[in-house]
Amino acid sequence: HKRLKPFPKDFLWGASSSAYQVEGASLEDGKGPSCQDVKEIPEGTSDLKVCADQYHRYKEDIALMAEMGFKSYRFSIAWTRILPKGTGEVNPKGIEYYNNLINECLKYGIEPIITMFHFDMPATLDERGSWGNPDSVQWFVDFARILYENYGDRVKYWLTINEQNVLTLSGPVIGTLHLPENCTNVLKEIYQQNHHMLVAQAKAMVLCHEMLPNAKIGPAPNISLVYPATCKPEDVIAAQNFNAIRNWLYLDMAVYGIYNAIVWSWLEENDATPTFVPGDKEAMKNAHPDFIGFNYYNTATVAASDLDAAEETALMGDQQSGREMAGIFKQVDNPNLPKTEFGWEIDPVGFRATTREMYSRYHLPLLVTENGLGAYDTLTEDGKVHDAYRIHYYQDHIRQIQESISDGTEFLGYNPWSAIDLISTHEGMVKRYGFIYVDRDEFDLKTLDRFRKDSFYWYKKVIASNGEDL
Ligand code: BG6
Repeated sequence: HKRLKPFPKDFLWGASSSAYQVEGASLEDGKGPSCQDVKEIPEGTSDLKVCADQYHRYKEDIALMAEMGFKSYRFSIAWTRILPKGTGEVNPKGIEYYNNLINECLKYGIEPIITMFHFDMPATLDERGSWGNPDSVQWFVDFARILYENYGDRVKYWLTINEQNVLTLSGPVIGTLHLPENCTNVLKEIYQQNHHMLVAQAKAMVLCHEMLPNAKIGPAPNISLVYPATCKPEDVIAAQNFNAIRNWLYLDMAVYGIYNAIVWSWLEENDATPTFVPGDKEAMKNAHPDFIGFNYYNTATVAASDLDAAEETALMGDQQSGREMAGIFKQVDNPNLPKTEFGWEIDPVGFRATTREMYSRYHLPLLVTENGLGAYDTLTEDGKVHDAYRIHYYQDHIRQIQESISDGTEFLGYNPWSAIDLISTHEGMVKRYGFIYVDRDEFDLKTLDRFRKDSFYWYKKVIASNGEDL
C-alpha cells in the first residue's frame, strides 16, 4: 500500500492476561482450586501460587496500564474465585475482587474485556470429567449467568473460551481435557468434549444477548493461517485440511452455527462424530457473535502426509512443527521465517494474511486478543529493561494490522500478550511477555516490584499517536 489508512478513532489499544497466570493468591479469600492448582508443575518452573501477585497489586498494575494510555485490558475471571466448587455457592470475596478490578479500569477509562474461561476448570468439576461430562454445558452457562448478573452493568466486551482449538488439538497437555481410562476412540472422545465446549459457548452467547442487549460477545480461538509447503496440489489439499481442523471448524461454528464439512467428513471416516442432544442444534443456530476475538502468534506450514493410519502421530504439539495426521497433513518448518528464543516462528505478514482471510470468510470485526513475544529479559542495575527485540516484533505486527485495515479489514482493537510479566503456560516465569517487568525469578519471589520496560515507553507513544508513531 502506498497510502495506509489510519487506525479507527476508538481502536481498543491495550493488552492481555489470564487469571491463573497473573493473579496468584491461588487459594486465598475463599478461592477454590482449579485444574491448574492441582496439576503437576513442569520441572524447573514455578508453581502458580503467587505469579505476578496481581490479586494484591491490581491498583498499581492498572495505574501503570493507564500511564501507557490503555483503552482496554483483557483479563480472565477465575471460575473458582466466583464458584469455589465450580457450581453451587457463590464466594462474595471473589465477586468483590472483580468488581474492584473492573471499577479500577473504568476509573481510568480502560474498557475491561473479560474472558470467561482461560484454561482453569474448577478442580471439583475436573474430577467429574471436565468438558467430557455432558453437564459441563450447563455448568458453564450457570457461571456465565452469574458474571452477566454481577458485571454486565459495566462490562461491554465478553469472550467465551480462550483457545478452544488449542485445547482440543493439544488435549491433555494444557491440563483441561482428560481422557477416560480405557478410552477406545480417542478422536471421538476429544471431539465430543470439543462439542460440549461449542454448545456451551453458543448458549453463553445467546444468554449474553438476552440479558445484556448492549454487550458484545465473541469467541477467542487461536487463529493462524496454514500455508502449503509448496505449490504441489497435494500440499494445498493438506493446507486446506489443517486450516479446516485448526481454524475454520471453530469459526464456522461460532459464526454460522455449522460444522465445517471437511472436518465433519474426517470425523465420520474415523467414527468420531459427536453426539448431539436436544437443544444443541438450536443453540448453535441462534448464537451470533458480535465480533471475532482471536489470538495470533504464528502461521503453520504443512505438506501432504504419506503416513498410513497405523503410523499416526496426531494430537500433540500444535505450536511447534512435527505434528502429523496420517493422510491429512504433516507440519513442517517454514524456511522463510525467523524464530524466537523459544523456537516459535515469527510471521508478521502472516498476521495480515490471516486477518484478510478471516474477514473474507466471516465479515465480522476482529479483536486481537493476543499476539506477542516471549523472551528472556534482563533487569539492569538501574532498573531498566532494554527489550528492543520486543519493540521490533510489535512494530512489524502493528504495521501489518494497518496494512490489513488498508485492505478493508475491520478491527476493534489490539490486546497483545501480555500487559505484565506472568507465568507462561509451561515454560515458567523466565519466558516473559510483558510491557511491565515483574521483579521475581522462577523460584525466588524477590520484591515483586514493577519496572517499566523500554517497550512500555514505546507502546505509550504508539497509543498516544493512535498507531501513527511506530
Ligand atoms: C496462548 C495462551 O496460547 O499463548 C496464553 O492463551 C499463553 O495463556 C500464551 O500464555 C503464550 O504461550 P506460552 O506457552 O508462551 O505461555
